[in-house]
Amino acid sequence: MSLKHLISALPKAELHLHIEGSLSPQLMWELAQKHHISLPYHSVEEIEKAYNFSDLQSFLDLYYAGADVLRNEDDFYQLMMAYLQRCHQENVVHTEIMFDPQTHTDRGVPFSTFMKGFLKAVQVAKGEYGISVKLIMSFLRHLSEAQALQTLRDAEAWYDVIDAVGLDSSELGHPPEKFERVFAEARTLGFKVVAHAGEEGPPDYIWQAINLLSVDRIDHGVRCQEDEELMELIKQRQIPLTVCPLSNLKLCVIDDMSQHNILKLLDAGLLVTVNSDDPTYFGGFLNENFEALDVALGMTEAQCRQLAKNSFTASFLSEEEKQKWI
Ligand code: HPA
Ligand code: ZN
Repeated sequence: MSLKHLISALPKAELHLHIEGSLSPQLMWELAQKHHISLPYHSVEEIEKAYNFSDLQSFLDLYYAGADVLRNEDDFYQLMMAYLQRCHQENVVHTEIMFDPQTHTDRGVPFSTFMKGFLKAVQVAKGEYGISVKLIMSFLRHLSEAQALQTLRDAEAWYDVIDAVGLDSSELGHPPEKFERVFAEARTLGFKVVAHAGEEGPPDYIWQAINLLSVDRIDHGVRCQEDEELMELIKQRQIPLTVCPLSNLKLCVIDDMSQHNILKLLDAGLLVTVNSDDPTYFGGFLNENFEALDVALGMTEAQCRQLAKNSFTASFLSEEEKQKWI
């Protein structure tokens, strides 16, 4: 079996996916027309052409602007449904999906609008495809901790359908320590916790996410390799890293995929996983991220199988549910 065939045949979990980052240019275009929103583009192709980024912030500017076409419950339903259909096509049998409430509530879209749309799609996809889904509510780190706390409170009616909280958006200048209190409160409420750290930010941000936020997983974390002691800790504790190869390339965290360190981290015994992050902005869903590693780094079959296995080990499924796939 070719590796490409194996990649698509293996059951996989995806653990680092921003639902707003799965908005296709086609759907963005359709929703803009439906709501009479004028976009700074004249065609779907022009949207696609605009996706050239120099760093995280240059991407976030377009990502937040794009999310403005999401206005009513059906828009959020369509967004979620399109991603879950794609999961089904790619043999992604379990997915833990991040959503950014503040991106919507700050535009006047109520919590109930996006939650109802998301949950309806999740229910349909569970029935049609048997896929399992967990939801991760992420706080925008360029906003204040008080606003994150308010978001946690605003979500109260939805606590039973949210599994974890996360931290995303502009990393540099917004260290994890800024959110120590809101993460403590989230943990007290029983949520799992994850945080983006060490994507653009220094290893110290990963230390903070571990020591101050007590994260269950680190999103990205690729800059851990700059600190031997940190790498050893992540390995010893088997703290999962949800790595996103095409994202790292598109946001210029690396210059070329051949420089990616994921297989080195894997071979060193770290619990790394492959993920797509914002697939419609970064040029590939999950299988394309695996394929990019194969093309640039010559991934072995054993490495490929280990990465698929890690995706379940690092998930928030119960031990019993994990055993079904490992
Ligand atoms: N990093 C930080 N914030 C984000 C990302 C990312 O890759 N995608 C969406 N929000
Ligand atoms: Zn991310």
